[in-house]
Amino acid sequence: MKLKDKVLSRLIKENTYCSGTNLSEEFGVTRTAIWKAVEQLKAEGYQIAAVPRRGYLLLQKSDIFQEDTIQELLKGCHINWKIQPYHMLDSTNRLAKDLAAQGASEGTVIMADVQTAGRGRMGKSFHSPKGGMYMSIILRPDMAVTSMMSITACTASAVHMALAEYGIISQIKWVNDLFLHEKKIGGILSEGSFQAESGRMEYLVIGIGINVHPDPEMPEELKPIVTDLETETGRNVPRYALAALILKHLEKFISEIENYTYLGIYQKHSCTLGHIVRTDDGREGKAIGFTKDAGLVMQLENQKKEVIRTGSVKIIR
Ligand code: BTN
Repeated sequence: MKLKDKVLSRLIKENTYCSGTNLSEEFGVTRTAIWKAVEQLKAEGYQIAAVPRRGYLLLQKSDIFQEDTIQELLKGCHINWKIQPYHMLDSTNRLAKDLAAQGASEGTVIMADVQTAGRGRMGKSFHSPKGGMYMSIILRPDMAVTSMMSITACTASAVHMALAEYGIISQIKWVNDLFLHEKKIGGILSEGSFQAESGRMEYLVIGIGINVHPDPEMPEELKPIVTDLETETGRNVPRYALAALILKHLEKFISEIENYTYLGIYQKHSCTLGHIVRTDDGREGKAIGFTKDAGLVMQLENQKKEVIRTGSVKIIR
């Protein structure tokens, strides 16, 4: 992590002035290096007061770091959500998995403003610049590992519902992608650990990434296929409020998972159903429905039906 990001993370956590001397001792650098790091942050648009003999104070915290506001919005929830915000991480899923393996409790949520090594499904990377909403949720559901796909689908439905509260009607591409106007606006990566003997989950980490604001440095190859909420709708969706709404809807869908309430939303807003799709191993067929646990039912050319439960599909037409 660069010094400026370490300094920013420290200023975000403090509600009072941080002295330059303390920061320089903490990070093992000179006070001039701290001053330079603060100047870089100011150039990036962070408002930081520098007062002689008191130190540095971050005046306006990034919206995602309004931890208290998120907690306020989550009042009345049954899950004890505990928000841990970071400015920059390699991957919120990586940290959440490490914490879960060390015993972090259900409801721990890791958020980051930027990810330097965001992970996508199938070993792909997930481009995670400033302006996105990146969070990973630790759950400890008493479920068989085979239910993991339902939770990913629950999460996609929860994201859809949260966006709908802003009048944004997204579409869900099986199994984990969120689309708006035929371009990807976000994705979900569920990872977990289970007990080999019982096949029950030990913990589940659900990672959600949503492109909220435009990325001025978006790689050329992503431009035709990826977009963000602000570009598509002109709306400035506050990331902290979006995160809180997703958690609320997710909690509700999970509590009703045995009634499959999430599935109605998942089906209604699917952009996969009715299309000819191709699986990763090259089979083609029409997507005609979902099983209760969100497997994709495909009708093959020989009219036989097949349920796809792993990998991804490409929409052909
Ligand atoms: C995909 O589109 O393939 C899934 C993308 C999942 C990205 C999110 S961002 C927050 C969390 N941390 C990660 O490293 N990945 C997930």
